Amino acid sequence: MRWVAVLAVASAVALCGSHVLNTDGQGELWAVLVAGSATWMNYRHQADVCHAYQILHQHGVPDDHIIVMMEDDIANSRENPTPGVVINRPDGPNVYEGVPKDYTGMDVTPENFLKVLSGDAAGLQGVGSGKVLKSGPNDRVFVNLVDHGAPGIFGFPRSFLHARNFSDAILAMHRNKQFKEMVIYLEACESGSMFQNLLPNDIDVYALSAANATQPSYACYMDEHLHTFLGDVFSIKWMEDTDREDITKESLEKQFHLVEKEVNVSQVMQWGNKTMAQEMASNFLGSKESELSDFGPFPPFNDPCLKTSIDSTNVSVAIIQGRMDAAQNETEASYWAQQMVQLQQNRTWVTETMYRVALSVTGSEDAATGMMSDRRHAVTRWLCYEESVEAFHRHCFNLGENPYALRVLQPAMNLCEHGYTGAEFASAAREVCTHASVSGIV
Ligand SMILES: *[C@@H]1O[C@H](CO)[C@@H](O)[C@H](O)[C@H]1NC(C)=O
Ligand SMILES: *[C@@H]1O[C@H](CO)[C@@H](O)[C@H](O)[C@H]1NC(C)=O
Ligand SMILES: *[C@@H]1O[C@H](CO)[C@@H](O)[C@H](O)[C@H]1NC(C)=O
Ligand SMILES: *[C@@H]1O[C@H](CO)[C@@H](O)[C@H](O)[C@H]1NC(C)=O
Ligand SMILES: *[C@@H]1O[C@H](CO)[C@@H](O)[C@H](O)[C@H]1NC(C)=O
Ligand SMILES: *[C@@H]1O[C@H](CO)[C@@H](O)[C@H](O)[C@H]1NC(C)=O
Ligand SMILES: *[C@@H]1O[C@H](CO)[C@@H](O)[C@H](O)[C@H]1NC(C)=O
Repeated sequence: MRWVAVLAVASAVALCGSHVLNTDGQGELWAVLVAGSATWMNYRHQADVCHAYQILHQHGVPDDHIIVMMEDDIANSRENPTPGVVINRPDGPNVYEGVPKDYTGMDVTPENFLKVLSGDAAGLQGVGSGKVLKSGPNDRVFVNLVDHGAPGIFGFPRSFLHARNFSDAILAMHRNKQFKEMVIYLEACESGSMFQNLLPNDIDVYALSAANATQPSYACYMDEHLHTFLGDVFSIKWMEDTDREDITKESLEKQFHLVEKEVNVSQVMQWGNKTMAQEMASNFLGSKESELSDFGPFPPFNDPCLKTSIDSTNVSVAIIQGRMDAAQNETEASYWAQQMVQLQQNRTWVTETMYRVALSVTGSEDAATGMMSDRRHAVTRWLCYEESVEAFHRHCFNLGENPYALRVLQPAMNLCEHGYTGAEFASAAREVCTHASVSGIV
C-alpha cells in the first residue's frame, strides 16, 4: 500500500494549488478521463483510467480540474476478493484510492461526455458531480479514453460514440477557445479510425491512438487470481513510462517513440499537430515532481505485460479458458466448458445475423459473402455507415452491452462503400432482428 502513504503527503502539498499551472507558468491544466466499459471481464479499462487519475494527482493536478467517467462496478464487484482495491499490474498499488466519481453508472454516456467537453454545465445540472471543463484560451487539456472500439466508434457501457461527433466536439472546443492546446490518448480497437481524416493538424490538438484504423488493440497482465486482465498494452506502456520518467524532462515525442517501440503488437499512431509533441509531457500531465518512480524499465525479453498480451477480441476466450484450467473439480470444469461453448455460439449468432442483414440488403448470397469477408475499405460514406451502425445497435445488438457486435461491423461499412444506403441497411436490420434484446455477448 505504498501508494496510500504517498497520497497523504501529496494532498497536503497540493493544497496550495500552484500545480494547476503549467510548467510555463501560464494557464491551467484540465483533464477528462473516460472508461467506456462495464463488467468484471473489462476490469482493465477502468483500471487504466484509475491509474491515469493517480498520475495526474501525483503530479499535482487538483481534483476539481479532473473529470472522471467510469461505470464504477469493479472495486465493489462481487467478484473482487479485495473490495475497494483496483490494480493495474500484478501485485500493483491500489489505483482506485481517491478517484473522483464524477459520472458513474447510467451517467456514463457519450452525450454526457460531449457535454463535459463543451463545458455545458447547464446540460449536466443534477447529473453526477455536474463537473465540466471550464478551461479557456490559455489552458491545456488532457483527454484519455479507454474502451472497446470499432471503425469510427468508441464504446460506452450502453451505447457508443461516433467518430464524427467526437471530432465535431473537438473542432467546436477549438472554435470556442476552450484550450490553448489539447492532447488526447485513446486506447481502443481500430482507434486510429477516430482521428484518420477527421483531426486537422492546425487546431492545436495532438493525439495518440493505441492502434491504426484497422487493427485491434491489446490487453495484458492476465491475473490468475482475479481471472481478468489488469491493463491494456498501450495504456500500460505510456503510464508505466510516465511513472518512471521525470516528465518535466520527457517530451511527448520521446514518450511516443518509447511507447511505439514497446507496443510491438499494434501500431501506435500520432495525429494532429505533431510539432506540439516537442513539449514536455508535464505540460499535460502535471508538473509537480511525483514520488512514484520505482517501476524501473523491464528488460525486453522479460516484459510481464507483453508476455501476457493478447488481441482484445480474445480476452473473453482467454478468461474462460483460465477459469477452466483453474477448476477445482469436474462440476466446475464442465460449467466453464459449457460457458466456452455458449460464448462461441453467441459469437456465431452475431456474425450470422450480420450476414442475414447483408443478404437482405444485397439479395445475393455471393454478394453478402463478399461483404462479410472484404477487409479493404475504410469509412468514407460516414452518414450511411452511422445510420447502419445505429440500426444494428437499435434493432439487433446493443453495441455497448454486446462488445462482440463491434467486431462484425465491417460488412455494414462495405455495403455503404458499395453504394447501398443506410436506409436499406436499417430496413433489413428491422426485418432480420426480431429477437428480444440481449446483453453479454462478449
Ligand atoms: C451525433 O451527431 C448526430 C448528427 O449530428 C446527432 O444526431 C447525434 O445526436 C449526435 N450524438 C451525440 C451522442 O451527441
Ligand atoms: C503546431 O504547433 C506548434 C507548436 O505549438 C505551432 O507553433 C504551430 O503553429 C502549429 N501548427 C499548425 C499548423 O497549427
Ligand atoms: C494497420 O496495421 C495492419 C497490421 O496489423 C497493417 O496490415 C495495415 O497496413 C496497417 N494500416 C495502416 C493504414 O497503416
Ligand atoms: C513483443 O515483445 C515481447 C517481449 O519482448 C515478445 O515476447 C513478443 O514476441 C513480441 N511480439 C511481437 C509480435 O513481436
Ligand atoms: C484468438 O484465439 C484463437 C483461439 O485461441 C486463436 O486461434 C487466434 O489466433 C487468436 N487470435 C488472435 C488475433 O490472437
Ligand atoms: C467444486 O469446486 C467449487 C469451487 O471450489 C466448489 O464451490 C464446489 O462446491 C465444488 N463442487 C463439488 C461437487 O465438489
Ligand atoms: C451468451 O449470450 C447471452 C445473451 O444472449 C448472455 O446472457 C450469456 O451470458 C452469453 N454467454 C456467454 C458465455 O458469453
